[in-house]
Amino acid sequence: MGAAQAEEFHRPVLVEAVCGALGPALASGPKKSRPRRYVDLTLGGGGHAKAVLERFAPEELWAFDRDREALAAARAKLEGLGADTRLELIHAPFSEADAHLRAAGVEQVDAVLADLGVSSWQLDAIERGFSFRGDAPLDMRMDQSRGPSAAELLESLDAAALARILREYGEEPDAERIARAIVEKSPRSTLALALCVRDAMSHRQLRKLGARVNPATRTFQALRIAVNAEFDEIDAMLATAPSWLAPGGRLGVISFHSLEDARVKRAFRGRTRVEAPPAGLPVPARDLPQADFEIPRGLNKGVDADADETAANPRARSARLRVLARKESPA
Ligand SMILES: C[S@@+](CC[C@H](N)C(=O)[O-])C[C@H]1O[C@@H](n2cnc3c(N)ncnc32)[C@H](O)[C@@H]1O
Repeated sequence: MGAAQAEEFHRPVLVEAVCGALGPALASGPKKSRPRRYVDLTLGGGGHAKAVLERFAPEELWAFDRDREALAAARAKLEGLGADTRLELIHAPFSEADAHLRAAGVEQVDAVLADLGVSSWQLDAIERGFSFRGDAPLDMRMDQSRGPSAAELLESLDAAALARILREYGEEPDAERIARAIVEKSPRSTLALALCVRDAMSHRQLRKLGARVNPATRTFQALRIAVNAEFDEIDAMLATAPSWLAPGGRLGVISFHSLEDARVKRAFRGRTRVEAPPAGLPVPARDLPQADFEIPRGLNKGVDADADETAANPRARSARLRVLARKESPA
């Protein structure tokens, strides 16, 4: 894939916000003790990585994606920059990034970004099976080299287990009736699945969704999350990525729906709060334990795209960036 195609691969969201939020951790210029390192956990088409390389020129980029084609597109884009940055592009899910970085002897990094979910390119590549906009086998794997496809997952589930997935990952009010219909009719392609969902959905829900939202939207989201174990991936990443940060280092996570954002918010809150001493114990304020992490000033609520960006890129409408920083001088 050439650099021009890579441009079209995926239009990154919140690029200015990401550079603004991670910039303070990368802008200090070359360090004496070690290279400045940027870790991109979801390289995709490399749009965010390109912006960070152009603005901050870190000495090293460690980038991950579980999609080989994304890595190829991003490589074309980033090598085309001719920057001096050492590029390490790794085909792996980000739950394995900790092991990769440790094995490579990387102990401290300055900034990390995880831009969750699928890329526009993955959605638009009908044959990948993520979308009901065309007919294709039910695949939905971001990494086509491992794991069961959506078709294989569906074959292994009974109606109760499938209903749980639709409810928990898709917040689908008609989960039970849709799950029963899918197990009974066993649709084999994206369009067959979309039709099966529409036929099974209650009139009430169909009316609520109206003509603009495909009735299968929540079912497709839920299956994609299950096929790619997305919440396990996010939880594993949130458990390890903060520990890579050097003092002053920053981690940014962009989420696209409330189920993702709630996980990020809860994990960041857990890192910035410490347990209070038992009630009644006289501990002077200076002796209270301090958290090693904080939410940078002004970023408490996260950052959403502004009206200009959402008008230009509808995908930005649901995006939210949250940022966690390791304090400069840990307590
Ligand atoms: C929203 S796109 C990222 C776009 C990218 N920031 C850019 O500027 O082009 C998400 C990418 O992350 C990858 N991805 C999603 N979950 C992943 C995971 N758990 N581990 C590794 N890559 C993942 C997807 O394959 C996809 O290429």
